[in-house]
Amino acid sequence: TAVVEHTFVVSQVNMTHLCRETLVTVVNGQLPGPAIDVTEGDSVVVHVVNKSPYNMTIHWHGVKQRLNCWADGVPMITQHPILPDHNFTYRFDVSGQEGTLWWHAHVPLLRATVHGTFIIRPRHGAPFLKPHKEIPIVIGEWWVEDLAFVDTTAEYNSASTINGKLGDLYNCSGAMEEGYKLDVEPGKIYLLRVINAALLSEYYLKIAGHKFTVVAADANYISPYTTDIIAIAPGQTVDALVVADASPGRYYMIALPNQPPKPDFQSPVLVTRGIVQYSNNHSSGHDELVRGGAGGSSSGDVPMSPEMPDNHDNMISFYFRGNLTSLHHPRHLPVPGRIDERLFITLGLGSVCRQGQSCKRGDNTTDNLIVATMNNVSFQLPTVSTPLLEAHYYNTSNMELLQELPDVPPRVFNFTDLSLIQTGPKEKKLEPTSKAALARRFRYGAVVEVVFQSTALMQSDSNPMHLHGHDMFVLAQGHGNYDMVRDVAKYNLVNPPVTNTVLVPRLGWVAVRFVADNPGIWYMHCHYEFHLTMGMVALFIVEDGPTESTSLPSPPVDFLVSDEYNLQNEK
Ligand code: C2O
Repeated sequence: TAVVEHTFVVSQVNMTHLCRETLVTVVNGQLPGPAIDVTEGDSVVVHVVNKSPYNMTIHWHGVKQRLNCWADGVPMITQHPILPDHNFTYRFDVSGQEGTLWWHAHVPLLRATVHGTFIIRPRHGAPFLKPHKEIPIVIGEWWVEDLAFVDTTAEYNSASTINGKLGDLYNCSGAMEEGYKLDVEPGKIYLLRVINAALLSEYYLKIAGHKFTVVAADANYISPYTTDIIAIAPGQTVDALVVADASPGRYYMIALPNQPPKPDFQSPVLVTRGIVQYSNNHSSGHDELVRGGAGGSSSGDVPMSPEMPDNHDNMISFYFRGNLTSLHHPRHLPVPGRIDERLFITLGLGSVCRQGQSCKRGDNTTDNLIVATMNNVSFQLPTVSTPLLEAHYYNTSNMELLQELPDVPPRVFNFTDLSLIQTGPKEKKLEPTSKAALARRFRYGAVVEVVFQSTALMQSDSNPMHLHGHDMFVLAQGHGNYDMVRDVAKYNLVNPPVTNTVLVPRLGWVAVRFVADNPGIWYMHCHYEFHLTMGMVALFIVEDGPTESTSLPSPPVDFLVSDEYNLQNEK
C-alpha cells in the first residue's frame, strides 16, 4: 500500500462565464478541484492551506473514516474550522471500500466550488469488464454571483455544469459557452464515474444513442443494470459502463435537473449538455446502421440529441432507484436481521420566531423564520468553544447541550395532510417549531432502522439524506405515508443497494438500516444545501465498544485540541 499525499491550496480566483467575471473559491485554482486517486488500503494525507477569506474544512464524502472520526471534516463537530491563512492536515486510510466518492468543503454554500473526485481503486480488480478508459462526470452548478452573496431565496441564479463546463445551451451576446467533450473510440468500453456535486438539483443524465450499464453507486457494487437514463441526487455517485457501439459520429450528453411535480413551482430549466464524439480515423463498418430512432444518424455536423423526460417527471427517478440491487460480492455484508433501534424521522419545514420578537403561528412571515426540521426540530449547534468530538472524547462540557432526537415526530406535527400542497402559500401552514442541537446516541454495534418520511411541505425540494461514517442498506421506498405493517413486507433483505446518501422520494418515504459500528460523532443531514443550512441535521453519536479496536482512538498527533488551537490563534 502507498501513502498518497496532496496539498490543497484553497483560494479565490476569478473565472469568467456568461460574460461575467466571478470571484470563486476553489482548490489549486481548479473547478472541479484536484482528483484524488488511490487504491483500496492506501493512506491519504492532504495538507489544506487556507488562502481564502472563509473558515474551511474538507469532508471526504462517503469515506467511512473507520475509528478515525477526527478526519471527517465537519466544523465544530469533529474539528475547529481552518481559519484563513491557517493549515490543517487530514490523514486517513481507505480500507474496505472501493469505487467512486468525492470530497467537498463542509461549509455552507462553498461546496459548490470546493469539490473534486475521490476514487478508490480495487486492489484486486473490479467485478465488471475492464474499461478502456475511466471518465469522471462531475455534475455541478455555476453560480452567477459570488456564492457568499447569492440570495438564497431566489430559487435559481445558476447554470448546470458537466466537469465545470456550462455547454453551448448557455450563451451571452452570442458567445456560446464551451461544453464538455468526451472522445471515444468505436467499440471501446468506458467507465463513467458520475458525481452529483450540485447544491440543489437531482439530475437526469442521458447520452443520445447509448445505454448505460450501472455497476456501482456510492462506492458499492450494483448488479449490472442497463438503462438509457441515470438519476442522481446531490451527494450521490453512480458508476456506469458505456460501450461506444453507435455509428461513429457526435452525440449529445445531457444533464437535466429533475424538478418538483407541477404545479408547485416553475423555474427555468437549467439543462447542460456536452458531446460524445467518435474518433474519425476509424471505420467500424456499421455506418449503415442508424440507431436511436428520432434524430437518426449523427454522422453529419449536428450531433444527435437524446430524448429527455419531462423535467417534472419524478417517477423515472423513483423507478431508477427501485431497480438497483447490490451485487453479490465479498465486500458486501449481509443485511442484519435484528433491529436494536428504530427511528422514524419526518423531514419538514417549520417556523421559529426571530429572536426577541413575539410571533403567532404562521400568520406573518416577517416575524417568523423558516427552518428545515427533523421530527419538527431544527438543528442548531449552540456556541461552543470546543468541537463536540473533542468534548465527547475527553468527557468535558458541552455534551449536555445536546437534545435527544425523538423517535417519532411530536404528536402535533402534521405530516399526513397531502392536501396542504395546493392550497396557498406554504408559510401559512408551517408548524411552529424550535431549534436545538439534535443528537441520538447508539451503543456500539447497534442495528438501527430509520424510516425517512417526506412531508407535504417538502414536496418542492428533494431530500437526499447523507450519513457520515457509515453506509446504509436501502430496504424499500414508497409514496405517501409509511405504513409499518404494509410496508415492512416490501423490504428487500436479500440484496438491497448500499449507499451513503439515500434519496427520500418526493411525497414518499424510504427505509434504511445501518450498523452503528464506527465510534464517534457523525453528521446525518440532507444534502440539499438549503435544507442543510436551514437545519435539517442530526448528530448520530456512536459509543465506544468494549475493546481498543472498537473505540475511538485519541486524536492524531498533529491534531490541534482546543487549548493549542486557541493559543495558536491568539498570536
Ligand atoms: Cu457530502 Cu456532510 O456531506
